[in-house]
Amino acid sequence: MITKAVLPVAGLGTRFLPITKSVPKEMLPVVDKPGLEYIVAEAVEAGLTELIFVTGAGKGAIEDYFHRDYFLESQLEASGKADYLKEVQRVGKLAKVISVRQQERLGLGHAVYQAAGIVSPNEDFAVLLGDDIIDAKTPAIGQLMAVQAERGGCCVALMDVPRDQTDRYGICDGQMVSPGLMHVSGMIEKPDPAEAPSTYSIVGRYVLPGEILQILETTPRGRGGEIQLTDALAVLAGRGQAWGLEFEGARFDTGNTLGLMRASIHFALKRPELAEGMRGILAEFS
Ligand code: UTP
Repeated sequence: MITKAVLPVAGLGTRFLPITKSVPKEMLPVVDKPGLEYIVAEAVEAGLTELIFVTGAGKGAIEDYFHRDYFLESQLEASGKADYLKEVQRVGKLAKVISVRQQERLGLGHAVYQAAGIVSPNEDFAVLLGDDIIDAKTPAIGQLMAVQAERGGCCVALMDVPRDQTDRYGICDGQMVSPGLMHVSGMIEKPDPAEAPSTYSIVGRYVLPGEILQILETTPRGRGGEIQLTDALAVLAGRGQAWGLEFEGARFDTGNTLGLMRASIHFALKRPELAEGMRGILAEFS
């Protein structure tokens, strides 16, 4: 059974500068909670109990947020602020969280590799990117875990994107073996639209075998001079050990400004106490 999830959150967040000079992009609010909290909640709901944050310089706010703050709790208790106390304790107890530091930002593959030593060589594990929120009845990572439990190898989350966007994603080639399930035969990172083998792109959820850490150890720098997770996964795909699932759920790319705002509108409309007010605001601007 998979218990560990790696959450790479060491990226620079260039697209949100200058706020990301001092606030990690994963801490930017979606409605009134950090975007990362939705992702942590997804992992916890899927039964993942040990979360490994791969952090970097300036990401301390993430660690503070997901750890308990006994001083704050005692202050809230002493002043009788029971509701706030409950909320603060809830976040601090969501999951067992540890963090490792990516000393150099050498890419997503390098970030995942930082989990070597915490994840055993034979242990399957999950990866959830800190800037992809997926709202689904069954947690998206849980949907992938079910496929991987049955088929082995690795399973990645797939989304069919417009062809002119293939150069933003890792793209999969392969055969659909049942509705929504691809047996992946090849993967390529951010191909030009004219060269993309399909429009099935990998979005931020993966279930991986521990062996991927060994593969990453020798994966050379690829696209953009970075160590790409897609290049390591392509090795598994070449052996017939990769699967891609068109998951059920709504995905929000919170790594860019409009995606972050879209996520806020979506989640506000789902909150009974906010929905009507939000509809009113949207009507004002339509
Ligand atoms: P992005 O490509 O979105 O990069 O990374 P970024 O730095 O976060 O954002 P921009 O492009 O500068 O605005 C995809 C995911 O991989 C993680 C990021 O934190 C994000 O979750 N990542 C990327 C790392 O953890 N380390 C890296 O070296 C690169």
